[in-house]
Amino acid sequence: MKFQLLTEKNRHKKTDCLIVNVLDDGSLADTTLKAVAGIQTVVDKVRKSGDFSGKLAETAVISLTDDLFASRLLLIGGGAPDKFDAKSSIKAIRAAVSALAKTAAKTATVSASGFQPTDREIDWTITRLVQEAGNTAYQYDRTKSKKATPAKLTTVQVMPCDQMPRKAQSAAIDLGEAISLGMSTARELGNLPGNICTPSFLAQTATEMGLKYKSLKVKALTEKQMERLGMGSLLSVGHGSKEESRLIVIEHKGAKSTTEKPYCLVGKGITFDTGGISLKPGAGMDEMKFDMCGAASVIGTMNAVAELNLPINVVAVVAAAENMPGSQATKPGDVVTSMSGKTIEVLNTDAEGRLVLCDALTYAERFKPKSVIDVATLTGAAVATFGNVNTAMLSNNEALAQELFALGQDVRDTVWQLPLDDEYQSLLDSNFADIANIGGPRAGTITAACFLSRFTENFNWAHLDIAGTAWNSGAQKGATGRPVPLLVEYLKRQSN
Ligand code: BES
Ligand code: MN
Ligand code: ZN
Repeated sequence: MKFQLLTEKNRHKKTDCLIVNVLDDGSLADTTLKAVAGIQTVVDKVRKSGDFSGKLAETAVISLTDDLFASRLLLIGGGAPDKFDAKSSIKAIRAAVSALAKTAAKTATVSASGFQPTDREIDWTITRLVQEAGNTAYQYDRTKSKKATPAKLTTVQVMPCDQMPRKAQSAAIDLGEAISLGMSTARELGNLPGNICTPSFLAQTATEMGLKYKSLKVKALTEKQMERLGMGSLLSVGHGSKEESRLIVIEHKGAKSTTEKPYCLVGKGITFDTGGISLKPGAGMDEMKFDMCGAASVIGTMNAVAELNLPINVVAVVAAAENMPGSQATKPGDVVTSMSGKTIEVLNTDAEGRLVLCDALTYAERFKPKSVIDVATLTGAAVATFGNVNTAMLSNNEALAQELFALGQDVRDTVWQLPLDDEYQSLLDSNFADIANIGGPRAGTITAACFLSRFTENFNWAHLDIAGTAWNSGAQKGATGRPVPLLVEYLKRQSN
């Protein structure tokens, strides 16, 4: 899908579909469209017919026979004018792009000011429009013999607005495209089944991305290389599997000075989580193919960062392994030694995410990072606490936590902080090692983060538990691409 910023002169360029935002009092949200003869008349007629009132996210497609520059109008309800905030805007945008996808329109014209919420700038609206349009175009068909019919819509023409320089408007389009590209990358990796998306497949995907972008340098450590580094904790997770574990390192060098310290992302890449010897129950276990969504979101974010060529240095570290039972598998009670030297008693082999992450976090330390954000489908407790609305966040740095919270609200990829009080740490005490890998049945998301915090003492760190937000279950089963929007926004802000 292509996005074109129209000019003042060709804003009424021919289009298969013009998107028109209508408030529930019948007025047009984009005042410039009022000047186009005929539109208000059509809107008044349709409202009078009772088919469409202007309620938030309501849609109606009107075919036009007159020679207006558009052959169709797609009416989108905006609800009450004073209540149109960022949340409403996203609802309306989503309704618009999915209604548009159901038409045969090849081209569409949209004015961001029609979707402009009261509490955001216009570039935000442009970016969200592009992001959502791109996201709607994504379809999974890799493992279906019948391929999906490609989206009919090929070009979205964005009307220019006068509140902002043209350059800023195109930058907003580029940002939206990069985010949707990153989300599609993340969703595709997440959706691929465990027998295809293995640790080596993730390594291969990252390597190919490295060949595509000049700014990227990619390496994928083998088990042998990890053994030499002393990553006994990470390696213990893959012992029951015939798939080799990998540590994938993706470096983006965008800063003017190569010695500038990087921002670091760490992703949990368990390509299938059976639980290991502490085997999970059978029902719904297929969803544990999504246990690499942290890794997928980190790889997707690097894709966006490279596409935007952000002028900062970023390093992604992905810890990839398959958690299987087997004669070589780690057993409850086994003690392993992490790269940091700390010993870990594995009381439950199903708490494997933290075991791979701790070594990846220790590895990240060598970059002297400005900040480290790890992303992981870490605990069922995060799903119980926040459902699929908020990502759980825990951090050892209040400023970083507040920044991520605010940015999450801004781009509507929200995170909510849980406390990392010292009082929880003793739940991880072990009689046989420096630390146990589980903290008992209570405060599961917090004790998981407490475990990780033992390996992040030397840098500013935030942990995002995306167990509830990385994928949808049920009829809409599939990866969401979260938290790519948040991570891209965070990194973009660091480059300003
Ligand atoms: N990948 C799971 C967490 C998970 C479970 C995510 C369900 C999404 C839905 C993780 O490896 C795990 O099994 N965690 C255990 C930890 C427990 C054994 C301390 C959990 O949350 O039950
Ligand atoms: Mn597990
Ligand atoms: Zn897991």
